[in-house]
Amino acid sequence: MSGGLDRVAVALDTSDRAELAAWAERFGPRVGALKVGLEAFVRFGPAGVAEARRHARALFLDLKLHDIPNTVAGAVAAARDLGADLLTVHAGGGPAMIEAAARAAAGGPTILAVTLLTHLDERELDRLGLPGPPAERVLDWVRLARAAGAGGAVCSPRELPAVRGAAPPPFQLVTPGIRPAGSAADDQRRSASAAEALDAGADLLVIGRPLTRAADPEAALAALARELGGAS
Ligand code: C5P
Repeated sequence: MSGGLDRVAVALDTSDRAELAAWAERFGPRVGALKVGLEAFVRFGPAGVAEARRHARALFLDLKLHDIPNTVAGAVAAARDLGADLLTVHAGGGPAMIEAAARAAAGGPTILAVTLLTHLDERELDRLGLPGPPAERVLDWVRLARAAGAGGAVCSPRELPAVRGAAPPPFQLVTPGIRPAGSAADDQRRSASAAEALDAGADLLVIGRPLTRAADPEAALAALARELGGAS
């Protein structure tokens, strides 16, 4: 029943080990990837990653690494050994850090650059000494990350069209903030439907609560498959 679900990564954001296992088992074989982020990683470590890996068709480790190049290279090598297929680093770490990550990942995970975190608005960026429109900074940092060897980037649905224009395939665009048609927005401020995001050029859609916290996860998955079946 996969359909377009191979373009979906389910975010396993939980501090409950039994929940992590149940979600991994339910969603892992049926979607493109399972995503382990900071919450589950800090709580459960490599054992939690192994649990996800056991059921996943691909493993997305969303650790948003940001440190000196040598340290990031070591962490990337460790993530490769954990079986990560996708791994995030902060574009703000700069070209040398991204190059070190890409080198350490050779033959292993695709390095995805996280540009601006979506909670940073123009005023906060100004206070950080990073003036100018956030959208332009996102584009600059995507170009920089791509030139430094990143295989893709994470961006919000709103930024997708511009970023896709600046970074054509096979550069991968991964998009959170997806709210399947008819589901609650939660705390996502720049959401789009799954079909809209695919049409705007996303390769992989990160979806958490609309699936994991759905009253009827099977029905939510089936509805998502139908929605994606109609997208390009
Ligand atoms: O539950 P929900 O579908 O909102 O989950 C979205 C996932 O995408 C979470 O794991 C979150 O950490 C991640 N994410 C996000 N917004 C960003 C970057 C990552 O929601 N700007």
